[in-house]
Formats: sequence, structure tokens, C-alpha cells
Amino acid sequence: MRIQKIVLPMAVSAVSLALSGNVLAETWKMAIGDAAGGTQYELGKTFAELIEEKTGGDVTVDLFPNGQLGSEQDTVNNASMGLVDLSIVAINNITPFSPTVGVLTLPYVIQGAEDAKLLTQGEIGEELAENTIRDAGVRLLGWAYSGCRRLTNSARPVAEPGDLDGLVIRVPKNEIMISAYQSWGVNPNPLAWSETFTALQQGVVDGQDNPYITIDAMKFYEVQDYVTDSCYVFSLEPLIIGEGQFQSLSPELQAAVLEAGQEATEHSYSYLLESEEAIKQRLVEEHGMEIVEPANDEQKWIELATGIWPDFYDSIGGKEKLDEVLATLGREPA
Ligand code: MLT
Repeated sequence: MRIQKIVLPMAVSAVSLALSGNVLAETWKMAIGDAAGGTQYELGKTFAELIEEKTGGDVTVDLFPNGQLGSEQDTVNNASMGLVDLSIVAINNITPFSPTVGVLTLPYVIQGAEDAKLLTQGEIGEELAENTIRDAGVRLLGWAYSGCRRLTNSARPVAEPGDLDGLVIRVPKNEIMISAYQSWGVNPNPLAWSETFTALQQGVVDGQDNPYITIDAMKFYEVQDYVTDSCYVFSLEPLIIGEGQFQSLSPELQAAVLEAGQEATEHSYSYLLESEEAIKQRLVEEHGMEIVEPANDEQKWIELATGIWPDFYDSIGGKEKLDEVLATLGREPA
């Protein structure tokens, strides 16, 4: 396939152009928030292989994991300005730029991988993707499915919200997640993802939450002892491209990029189902983490955190939007 990039009047893909010195730059940079070994990396690697294959080697992608190109929220901005070609970030780090995607991080809405797939690959996903282009200037090309976010900490087994008393928990800079922790009686510490490991290591914070695969990839077991097997948010991590960058590509290349994103997404779903359980076991057997079951089937956690839903109706597009999401999942309205 012949690669054609049209030069836009704005600073589209400034990094690639500056490095290559011409407008036919064929190596794209992909920022990845997590370390290699996680679901974000798996999605990025698969996309890179697919796009190289689909373009007969005309496009290659260099992966920069572990926040090397900046915090996840910075890379959303940078992608929209054409300063980085592609980025993979957690959806919670897109919400500040495009609030309607917050419906995907409202606590206890998505209750597992099937729910996550239904929402991202159907009409709701399409609508949220359009909103993200409009609000944040980035296009969602594909999704990493990373699993439920589990609470980890270094102090004690946490089975119910009261056990968090006195602990400092890191949360993403995301109003919904901050509010969920407040509902459990905690005043959380919002920190960029790229600062989280160091904050845990230095004892600035006692805990955080992320899926098993991410806990493993980020080596959090080195600084955290307990994992609560909770599921307050399912971690969805889109691959994004700046809309200016996307529109600068030829129609053939746009089609290849979209196809590669879709196929990489399908791979990500299977990868989660195949690997999550083994990784959970490894955290216990090889890394000595203790898994704690939430008390009473997580009822107290659910009751308190779902109480914050009405506070976010305006930002997600109204209660009717949440009801539409719940109906898609076969559940009762809020
Ligand atoms: C966060 O906690 O900020 C993100 O969910 C982490 C990630 O991108 O994996």
C-alpha cells in the first residue's frame, strides 16, 4: 500500500516530522502508560504487528511503555495536538477531556469482561467514540480489556470500607473515582499514573487500585502486600490517535488503521480471558500477595459507591444515558 500523508496547517505529527525530516514519515510513536507485559502493551504490540503487515511494512510503530512519553493524561493532550502519533491510556484518564465516557467508570456499572465488550463494541461505544473526537480531539481505535480494578495496599487485609480507615489511597485524577473513595470514607490522593509506583514505594500512599494484570506488569507486588478481590470499576484502556493525524492519512491507510485497531481489540479480549487467572495465582504463589474477599459479597462497597451516580448524571449526558447503558447490560434502570 502506498502511504500518503497530507500536511495539515497545524502541527500534525510534529514529532515524526521533526525526526524524519520529511512528510512521508513511516515510523509512528506509540505512548503506553503501563510497563511491558500488561494488557496495554499487548494491544499496542498486536496493533503494531497488524499495521505493519497490512501496509506491507510501509508503516512501523515504535512502542514507548512505562510512561516514557509522559503521563497518560499528558499523552491524550499530546495526541490531540499531533505531538505523539498514538497512545494507550486508561479510559479514566480520558474522562477529564471527554466527560461522557465517565459512564464507563461509574462504580459497579460494568461487572466483568462481557459487559465491557458489549458496551465498547456496540452503539454505546460508537457514540462515546464520536464524543471523544468532538471533545478531546482524539479517536478511539481499539480497546485493551484489562479486568476489574482490585484494591491493593501495604498495611492490612481490607474486606470492607471501614478497613480503609487511616489509609492513604492513590486514585487517578478522575472525579468519579475520587468520589467513589469518598463514599467509602476515604480522602484519596489523586496522582498521575506515572508517579504511582514511586509514591507506593516511598510510602507517600499506602494503596491503589488496578487489575491483576496491571499489578503484575507494574511489579506492584514489590511494594504492596494485600489485594482486595473487588470489582468497582472495569479497566478499559483505549488506543487513541489524534483526529488531525487520522484525517491526514489516505483513505486506504485510514481503513488499515481502523481494521488493525478492531483486530487488536479482539485479541485483547481473548488475552484477558486466557491470562488473568494465571496472573492472579502468580501474584499469590510467586510474589506472596494475600488475596482478601470483600465482606458480604461486596454489598457495603456497592451500596455506598452507587450512591454517587446521581452526582455525575449531568457530566455523562443525563440519567437516561446511564439507563441506556444498564438496559444494554440487561439491568434495571438506576
Ligand atoms: C490509572 O490508574 O491511572 C490507570 O488506570 C492505570 C493504567 O493505565 O493502567
